Amino acid sequence: MFVQRCIDVACGSEFELDERLYVCSRCGDLLDVEPVGIFTHDVASLRKLWRERRGSNDVRDRSGVWRFREFLPFADDVDVVSLGEGNTPLYDAPRSADYCGLTSLKLKHQGNNPTGSFKDTGMTVAVTQARKLGMRLVACASTGNTAASLAAYAARARMQCAILVPDGQVSEAKLAQALDYGAKVLEIEGNFDTCMRVVQELAEQSSLYLVNSINPFRIEGQKTVAFELAEQLGWEVPDHLVVPGGNLGNSSAFGKGFRELFSHGLTRKQPRISVIQAAGAAPFARFYKNRAAEFVNEDHPETLASAIKIGAPVSWKKAWRAVRETEGYVITVTEQEIADAKAMIGRDGIGCEPASATTVAGIRKLVAEGLIKKDESVVAVLTGHLLKDTDYVIRYHSNTLTAPQEGVEKPIRGTFANSIVRVAARPCAIESVLKNLA
Ligand code: F0G
Repeated sequence: MFVQRCIDVACGSEFELDERLYVCSRCGDLLDVEPVGIFTHDVASLRKLWRERRGSNDVRDRSGVWRFREFLPFADDVDVVSLGEGNTPLYDAPRSADYCGLTSLKLKHQGNNPTGSFKDTGMTVAVTQARKLGMRLVACASTGNTAASLAAYAARARMQCAILVPDGQVSEAKLAQALDYGAKVLEIEGNFDTCMRVVQELAEQSSLYLVNSINPFRIEGQKTVAFELAEQLGWEVPDHLVVPGGNLGNSSAFGKGFRELFSHGLTRKQPRISVIQAAGAAPFARFYKNRAAEFVNEDHPETLASAIKIGAPVSWKKAWRAVRETEGYVITVTEQEIADAKAMIGRDGIGCEPASATTVAGIRKLVAEGLIKKDESVVAVLTGHLLKDTDYVIRYHSNTLTAPQEGVEKPIRGTFANSIVRVAARPCAIESVLKNLA
């Protein structure tokens, strides 16, 4: 059995799963979904069961999330809203490894989900819960990916869906997805944090169901990526897991997933979970660096990695628990470092959106500082697909990318730029360009 429990240990209030809460109604802190009573599983038979489900045609077994449903807060006969999420590849990335100064590096590509980002693994669970509660209207604030994901899952569940996005700050590809899936897209003046604040106020006053990662059911779905990753590694977890940090739901979810795996004897240790932020949108990194008593939001977050342009992350307390318990690090990377790391990931034939590339940029820094050792096992989580933001890619490769820095636009160097070549429609002209390739 599961309950929703306040994460503040002094409060510790418990609520039923069907109470529509986003924060603790007693103290206002965040909630986690937690098992209560006896929750014992036989490790060997669980692993076997999860492996065997991969060969089944049951919708739940085909999903990389619902395959691990013993750890999800639903009865076995729940009517799941699934698009076949999860089951994403874990790639070896030798060029990126070299770039970071590592012997090897693995990339867990969450961009290979149905809507092209990691959000789908949480959304399948949150929208299933919304349907279970009989909700008609689901909503979120978003920098684009949550919006695209919610729009798709709401469409599958035949629910109405409203998304609040910061005006002019979301990539076209993400907006296009949300529109195509039939969401009501509301452009709000301000940034992501403004959208988040407004949608939370709205959720308190109305009957809409909020599915940002403040909703603990989102975290439940996203935590299963830790299960899938551990399984892909033969139940040996890596020394380091590195994720980008925006609203900090993803790092929270990995923390919870690896904590549960370890406490149930499914793995022998937990990886160090490190979070990388863009230097212009780094309230969590500042909190970590100063070991501050209080978390101070960033009023004017700035980064070209628009997915993580966030100054007031709602899940910072859960993410801090994940980093603290696993002795991970929280650092920042510059716009130049993000752009170059992204191009390097592309050269491994993998590709990702800018926010995801903070991981490789961050690992390179952590290796240079001696905090990650050359031969340690490292997994970086790529959160979004390359095609989520093609404008950025084209500008980097044509050496026209610029990023705002203290109010002025500064050029980003196309260190690994791969420019388009204009060439006459004659074989000999083309041959003269190609001869350098062979
Ligand atoms: N990477 C990508 C591609 C994202 O879209 C996000 C968040 C993050 C990383 C950061 O993850 O918020 O869990 O720390 N995107 C949200 C959105 C905010 O609205 O799509 P986080």
